[in-house]
Amino acid sequence: MSALVALNRRSFLKQSMVAVGVLGFSRLVQAQSTGAVREYRLVAAPADIEVAPGRIWNTWAYNGQVPGPTIRATQGERIRVVLENRLDVPTTIHWHGVPLPNAMDGVPDVTQEPVPPGGRFIYEFDANVPGTYFYHSHVGLQLDRGLLGTLVIEPAEPERLADREFLLLLDDWLPTSPDDAMAAMMVTTPGTGGGMMGGGMMGGGMAGPASVTEPPYAGSLANGQLGTNAESVSVVRGESVRFRIVNGSAATTHRVGLLGHRLTVTHTDGQAVESVEVDTLVIGMGERYDVVVRMDNSGTWPLLAGSVDSAVPGIVLPVVYAGKRPTLAPVQVWPPSLTSGKRLAYSDLRPRDGVAVGSPGRSIPLTLSAGANGAWTINGQAYPNAEPIQVRLGERLRFQFRNMSMLRHPMHLHGHFFQLVDRTTGRVSGPIKDTVIVEPMMGAVDVEWVADNPGRWLMHCHHAYHMEMGMVREVRVG
Ligand code: C2O
Ligand code: CU
Repeated sequence: MSALVALNRRSFLKQSMVAVGVLGFSRLVQAQSTGAVREYRLVAAPADIEVAPGRIWNTWAYNGQVPGPTIRATQGERIRVVLENRLDVPTTIHWHGVPLPNAMDGVPDVTQEPVPPGGRFIYEFDANVPGTYFYHSHVGLQLDRGLLGTLVIEPAEPERLADREFLLLLDDWLPTSPDDAMAAMMVTTPGTGGGMMGGGMMGGGMAGPASVTEPPYAGSLANGQLGTNAESVSVVRGESVRFRIVNGSAATTHRVGLLGHRLTVTHTDGQAVESVEVDTLVIGMGERYDVVVRMDNSGTWPLLAGSVDSAVPGIVLPVVYAGKRPTLAPVQVWPPSLTSGKRLAYSDLRPRDGVAVGSPGRSIPLTLSAGANGAWTINGQAYPNAEPIQVRLGERLRFQFRNMSMLRHPMHLHGHFFQLVDRTTGRVSGPIKDTVIVEPMMGAVDVEWVADNPGRWLMHCHHAYHMEMGMVREVRVG
């Protein structure tokens, strides 16, 4: 792209963002550029990662570490990342949730040629919208190998939400190759597979072999450490700590809670919400939550996380008050005081900075189903054999997700935020997000968004294996 084209595109983006402000998504208005550039170098290469003392994971990583380095910038700065590919396969990096120019989105063969072995690519974009994001490879199942990291954009006006913060990147740990896991899932999921439901769809598949719907994970990782071996969080009584929680798992929906404390939810997918106090929250693949915890209950407490479908928390992170012993009794199952407490629901969340108004957008029904031969489909089509969704620049749209399968699908849209529709009132009053869980067996979520960012964007399930098996659509804006 010539410098002139790049410049035109930037000023064009600026104009379209201002137009969006009228519709109420004013948080997308561009920040004044400070001219500062945050530069990082990420080398994707094979690495031996010690996930617990003596337990070595032979995998792929950025800069020899899982997660990769945390990328931080302040709103108004520019982020430049030089990716060097020292794998023997092509790769890319996607900046999950960040509204950036299409050419920087990191989707192989859609927004860029994948970076070949030995090649490099420079990603560069403005840090406009503050929030908690993450980055990951967007090639095949590489995310499940450890090619991921956290990205934080601080607001230009510093927020004083808490005394300090702690990043918590949740991941499911697959010690073996994701490609082998995928092959095994393919073999064992003919017909019913990961689960069709309803009417005649069950068909004769019921008689098929027991289905394997998830890869053989050997545990959960908290910041790259095997769950029960994770680092501890030292706190002082009376202070407050902000946890930026990212679910970077390829296939595991996590539940999170801290015994003896409540979580005050302040952001989802980086976007501020009116504070809500809960005991636990459920976080789908690709979702983020920021929570603030007031440390007012002296002791040593387990911060727990793990698959929402399991009674055993895979991650036990000691939160240790000053002067208290850093050891915890083993936690065998989720404590009832947490599981019977308040669990965050999307309907509890309201955006902090007002509600978007405007006439309802064009409705696009999106039915999520299990297809034949292990495929996962949207409206019966499995990507890449799927028609792109064509939308006009500036168009307001309503995606109506309907889940006809037996598994959860965290649906993610690139390059844009959307707002959840409150299904009881029909109003567009829910949180602003970029990833939303659609619950199994007739789960329904409507989201509304403004197509203000031109280009070819993906919308897909963030379960890496569902994505790989077709639960993807291209959305062409403009
Ligand atoms: Cu984090 Cu296309 O996804
Ligand atoms: Cu899915």
